[in-house]
Amino acid sequence: MTGFATQVAFVTGAGSGIGRATALAFAQAGAAVVVSDVNDTSGQETVDQVKAAGGEATYVRCNVADPDQIEAAVRQTVIIYGRLDIGINNAGIGGKFGRLLDQTPHDFDQIMAINVGGVFYGMQAQIRQMLAQSDNQSANHPAGGHPAGGKIVNVSSIAGIRGMPMGGPYSASKHAVLGLTKTAALEYVRQNIRVNAVCPVYTHSGMVDELINTAPGMEERMRRVIPIGRFGQPQEIAQAILWLCSDENAFCTGQAIQMDGGLTAG
Ligand SMILES: NC(=O)c1ccc[n+]([C@@H]2O[C@H](COP(=O)([O-])OP(=O)(O)OC[C@H]3O[C@@H](n4cnc5c(N)ncnc54)[C@H](O)[C@@H]3O)[C@@H](O)[C@H]2O)c1
Repeated sequence: MTGFATQVAFVTGAGSGIGRATALAFAQAGAAVVVSDVNDTSGQETVDQVKAAGGEATYVRCNVADPDQIEAAVRQTVIIYGRLDIGINNAGIGGKFGRLLDQTPHDFDQIMAINVGGVFYGMQAQIRQMLAQSDNQSANHPAGGHPAGGKIVNVSSIAGIRGMPMGGPYSASKHAVLGLTKTAALEYVRQNIRVNAVCPVYTHSGMVDELINTAPGMEERMRRVIPIGRFGQPQEIAQAILWLCSDENAFCTGQAIQMDGGLTAG
C-alpha cells in the first residue's frame, strides 16, 4: 500500500478505540488528519499522540448527530488543510443492553441519531466537499496531484449483518449504515467517490469494556463465539480502513468488509 502523503482525512469519534487507531494509522501513512469527537480531552490526546509520532493532526469538536456541526467540521477541515480526500464515519454508541421490550423510545432515538444520523450527515458533508473540489480541480488545476473524488469508510459492525440479542436498536442502526453505504457507493461511483464499510466483531475499546462489565463472566462468553479465540485490536480494524481507502484498491466500492476473526465464515 502506498502512503497517503498530501491527502487529508477526517475521522469522527477519533478520541478513542477504533477512531483513534485509525487517525494514528492515517497520520503514520502521511495524511493530515482532522480528529473529531465530542470528548475534547480524549480528542486532543489523539492529536498529541499523532504529533508525538511525527504526524500532522488537528482536533475539531463535532457531535455527529447534529448536521450543522458535522457540516461545520468538514468546512473547518478545508480551512485548515485545504481539501478533504477521506471521510471516516466511525463515531458510535453501543446503547442500552436489553431486550426489545426493555428499550425505550429515547434509547432507540438516541442510537439512531448518533449511529445512523452521524453516518448520513457525515457522508452528506463529505460528498458535497469532494464533489466541489473535483469541479474546481478540473476547472482550474487538472489533476493537480490529487485525483478527483474521494474515499469514505463507514464503521458498521457484525451486528449490521446478524441480529444481536440484547442490542436491537444497535443492530438496526448498523444494518442502516450498510444500506447508506451501498446506496452512496452506487450514487457517486461515476464521480470517483468510493464508499465502503467495515464490520468489526468485538474489538478492544471503551465500548467493549462497557459490555464486558454488564455481567460476571461476560468477557469469556463474548470471546468464545469468535473462532480465532480473541477480540480484535483497534489497530487491526484501522488497517482494513486504510486498505479500503488506498488508491491501489480503486475497484472496491459498496462493500462491507467483515473483520470478525472468522465469525461469519461458518
Ligand atoms: N469495539 C467494538 O467491539 C466494535 C465492534 C463493532 C463496531 N464498532 C463500532 O466502532 C465504532 C467506534 O467504536 P469504539 O469501539 O472505538 O468505541 P469507543 O467508545 O472507544 O469510541 C467511540 C468514540 O465516539 C465518540 N462519540 C460518541 N458519541 C459521539 C457523537 N455523538 N459525536 C461524535 N463522537 C461521538 C466517543 O466520545 C468516543 O471517542 C462505533 O461506531 C462502534 O459501533 C465497535
